[in-house]
Amino acid sequence: MPKKIAAGNWKMNGTRAAVSEAMAIGQADAGDCVVILCPPATLLTVLSDARLALGGQYCHAETSGAHTGDISAPMLADAGATYCITGHSERRADHGETDADVRAQTQAAWNAGLIAILCIGETLEQREAGETLAVLEGQLNGSLPDGATADNTIIAYEPVWAIGTGKVASAAQVAEVHDALRAQIGPRMSLLYGGSVKAGNAAELFALTNVDGALVGGASLKAADFVPIIEALAAS
Ligand code: PGA
Repeated sequence: MPKKIAAGNWKMNGTRAAVSEAMAIGQADAGDCVVILCPPATLLTVLSDARLALGGQYCHAETSGAHTGDISAPMLADAGATYCITGHSERRADHGETDADVRAQTQAAWNAGLIAILCIGETLEQREAGETLAVLEGQLNGSLPDGATADNTIIAYEPVWAIGTGKVASAAQVAEVHDALRAQIGPRMSLLYGGSVKAGNAAELFALTNVDGALVGGASLKAADFVPIIEALAAS
C-alpha cells in the first residue's frame, strides 16, 4: 500500500512568529499518516523540534556554486529537510522551470538523500481543450528521472486552476486523473492531490481509491485548518 501523506506547503509565508503553528500541527493525531511541512527554508533549522517531517519547496540542480539567492538539496538536507517539493506550478510559471529543469532538480534532491514531492498539473486552458491526461503524462515522462521508486518519490497532482483559487477539482475529475496516473507510476508510490484542499472537502477526496493524501497550501498555514485535514486522512 502507498503511504498516506499530508504535506503542507507554506510557500513564501512564515517567520519565527509562525513556529507555534508548526508545533501545533505536529500535535495532530496523525495515526499512520506521514505529516510533512515545507516551510520557507529560513525556518527549517528553527523547526527541528517539531514532531513533523520537514521539506524544502525547491532545490537547485547543482550542489553549490555561483547562483545568488538559490538553495541546493544538500543545504536543505543539512538544515533538517528529508523531503523536497520539485516542479511546483508556481516555480514553473514564476521562474520558467521546464520539465528538464524539474528532472535535474528531482535527481539533485535524490542525490542529497531527499524524497522528492514531484508536482504536475494542467492549466484551465489545457483542461478545456481535453488535453489533461496527455499533458500530465508528458510532464511525468519529462520531469521524473529514471530510477524513481516509492521510496524516493511522491507524486502530487495539482491542477493549476485549483491552486489558491478556492476551486477544488471535483471528486470525479480527481479520480479520473489519479486512476490514470496510478497506471503510469505503479501500485506503491504515494499519489497526492493538491489545489484548494480544505477541511470541508478533504474527506471526500481521501475516500477516492487512488488518493493517498494531499499537498496543502493556504489551509496548512494554521493548525486550526490543517489539523482537521490530517485527521481526515488518518480516518480514511
Ligand atoms: P492551495 O495550494 O492549497 O493554497 O490551493 C496548494 C499548493 O500549491 O501546493
